[in-house]
Amino acid sequence: MVEFIFANPELEAKYGHWKNFLQENFKSEEHYKVQFEGAIPTVFDPEGRKFKIDFLGDNTNYNKVKSSVNKEPLAKALGSGAKGFKLLDLSAGLGVDSVFLHQLGFKVTAVERNPLVYMALKIASEQLPEVEIIFSDSLKFLESVNPGDFDVAYFDPMFPEKKKSALPKQEMVFFKNLVGTDEDASRIVHLATEKKLFKRFVVKRPLSAESFKKPAGSIEGKIIRYDIYGL
Ligand SMILES: C[S@@+](CC[C@H](N)C(=O)[O-])C[C@H]1O[C@@H](n2cnc3c(N)ncnc32)[C@H](O)[C@@H]1O
Repeated sequence: MVEFIFANPELEAKYGHWKNFLQENFKSEEHYKVQFEGAIPTVFDPEGRKFKIDFLGDNTNYNKVKSSVNKEPLAKALGSGAKGFKLLDLSAGLGVDSVFLHQLGFKVTAVERNPLVYMALKIASEQLPEVEIIFSDSLKFLESVNPGDFDVAYFDPMFPEKKKSALPKQEMVFFKNLVGTDEDASRIVHLATEKKLFKRFVVKRPLSAESFKKPAGSIEGKIIRYDIYGL
């Protein structure tokens, strides 16, 4: 269940409808809490760990774009966003990469299937409406995508092994418990590449992990790797 706590009636009037959304879509025995004090909710797990998605705050690194942006491995893997290419992020998560890719110039549509994460993202995106957030399983969403709808795509599934995270450790524990380990990730990679949906499709992997499918090339960071398809 999810308990909502509103600091005032105005916030309840604005965000109360999310209770219905979660009742319909989020089935969990665990007791989560969502606290509204301002424009951005804080989500708590039963142990009191919390996360908050604030695209404009400085809590998490939502502003990676610095002068050396093109040296970022993800920017190298996806190519330039300068032409305003349409990019589909198949694993929105906390939106860190989506916001970075938007900052690079891509027109970003991001898909998230976990209802609690989606709710937090969707509310956060009111601060940055240029990034479109969609509630769906990407496997299902891809069925409605045709070649040409998006130029490039990006996929960053959860992985059971340790990998570097933009989140403090407690938040990462919460997040992993909440969304699981995306065991179906390989199906996304096969579907997207077999249907040739994108000019370029980039998949983030821990450096030492096997590829889901042999890529055309890879860009390596210190502990992660971007596999590139469709070159
Ligand atoms: C490692 S996190 C992504 C982190 C994200 N790149 C960021 O910068 O915050 C993986 C996220 O993708 C979501 N996800 C994984 N597979 C998905 C799928 N098939 N459809 C939709 N969302 C998916 C998970 O629920 C989780 O929130």
